[in-house]
Amino acid sequence: MPRNSDGTLTAGKISPRRAVPHHIPRPEYVGKKGPTPSAHGDIYDAETIELIRESGRIASQAIDAVAEAIAPGVTTDELDAIGHDFIVKHDAYPSTLGYRGYSKSLCSSINEVICHGIPDDTTLRDGDIINIDITAFKNGVHGDTNRTFVVGNASQAAKDLVDRTEESLRRAIAVVAPGRPISVIGRVIESYAKRFGYGVVRDFTGHGVGYAFHSGLIIPHYDAGEKYATVMQPGMVFTIEPMLTLGSIAWDQWADGWTVTTRDKSLTAQFEHTLAVTETGAEILTLS
Ligand code: MF3
Ligand code: CO
Ligand code: CO
Repeated sequence: MPRNSDGTLTAGKISPRRAVPHHIPRPEYVGKKGPTPSAHGDIYDAETIELIRESGRIASQAIDAVAEAIAPGVTTDELDAIGHDFIVKHDAYPSTLGYRGYSKSLCSSINEVICHGIPDDTTLRDGDIINIDITAFKNGVHGDTNRTFVVGNASQAAKDLVDRTEESLRRAIAVVAPGRPISVIGRVIESYAKRFGYGVVRDFTGHGVGYAFHSGLIIPHYDAGEKYATVMQPGMVFTIEPMLTLGSIAWDQWADGWTVTTRDKSLTAQFEHTLAVTETGAEILTLS
């Protein structure tokens, strides 16, 4: 249950790797240093989109199962066990387990942790906020989603940050449509976040997802203008996953090589969906 005396987070003890039954197919990167770049682009046919939806539903339902256990006193490792067991029970593989050396089945990012917090023996406290990010791999495709939860009674500022981060994702999804440049997504998120003076994290982005966990397509959450002129097309599949902060967007990474925090230790929240671009807009593939 490690914390600094001011309540900020510090690295805890990470439990041994959890096993995945042998009959469950692994993504190609498991047991290797990293993924082999996928030759497939970011456009999928209707059948494959249905498979991504199946993986996405398992990921979302796994978050639902984890959410039921979120309470003061629970460790993030206990949450990892719940997410892991749910995913493998549905014959899927937890995509983060063995991805570039990551050794857990979900990311648990508390308070000032922007993303990629590793489940450990840290116990949740009343008033924390915690993001649970789960990706499931089944039928050869990944579905990636995350949500932020409030633990017990949080400050109004924390609750507002969580609600408005979710709203920024909703607004971003609403402007996804074929023929529009990717840059409209970040423009909408940034202009909404600015109303409240929130920081919009720039160095971690949304991404193409499907056969690959991260395809190489980048989805910025800030207004990146001409640099991201790629035009959205029907069948394109990617995530949008804005991270908003109550302070600065400068960040630090822990010695574990993963955990990313705000440098000023300000609170930060995130929400993520995997989407498919349709003929008229977007469809969310990570619903329960
Ligand atoms: N699910 C995260 C994302 O949204 C990626 C986590 S990679 C990990 O892209 F290795 F940190 F788990
Ligand atoms: Co993602
Ligand atoms: Co994710």
